[in-house]
Amino acid sequence: MEELRQKWNTRYRALAGQSVEPCQVLASHTGLLPQTGTALDLACGRGGNAMLLAQQGLSTSAWDISGVAINELQKRAQTAGLSIDCCISDVSAKPPAPALFDVIVVSYFLDRGLLNNLEHALRPGGLLYYQTFIGEQRDGRGPRNPEFRLKYNELLNHFSGLKLVYYDESGQNIDGECLYIGQKP
Ligand SMILES: C[S@@+](CC[C@H](N)C(=O)[O-])C[C@H]1O[C@@H](n2cnc3c(N)ncnc32)[C@H](O)[C@@H]1O
Repeated sequence: MEELRQKWNTRYRALAGQSVEPCQVLASHTGLLPQTGTALDLACGRGGNAMLLAQQGLSTSAWDISGVAINELQKRAQTAGLSIDCCISDVSAKPPAPALFDVIVVSYFLDRGLLNNLEHALRPGGLLYYQTFIGEQRDGRGPRNPEFRLKYNELLNHFSGLKLVYYDESGQNIDGECLYIGQKP
């Protein structure tokens, strides 16, 4: 884990000061977000999702193993006058507790051991936004290791207990990515 943390810290040091964007599935479906409640940007990196969630008025937490990313996000949030609960945390070792969040967003992170925890961590009516790489690597985008890429239909099958709100793995939106939104009954 320490090696992984250092790898991400090094990447984020190199990106310091650059702008940060939310993932597309969140940015293009903000109208679904509740007006109040709690939100988590899990494995948030530089926190583009967390910034958008906080701007929407949600009480937002952002968790990542990289202290560099978390410190930068904390400063960016302060500058923007937003309150985000930023936390250096290994989410694989310490997954979110049950029924804590009205919204969970995961982008470009996949730990299959956590998927059940995500479903349980949603409150009734809560939304899960998920966007990450799918299928085999093409054009050098995303990880090559299949452990870190979704299989086709994987999120659909895994989250069969959630109501499907949006699903696109056609490549029409972004080639080689899956965009998913599900809602806890
Ligand atoms: C590809 S980045 C994606 C970051 C962000 N979600 C985004 O869309 O830009 C993957 C992130 O997962 C974080 N990460 C990897 N393993 C983690 C773990 N066990 N717990 C928390 N964060 C982790 C890394 O530090 C990195 O920020």
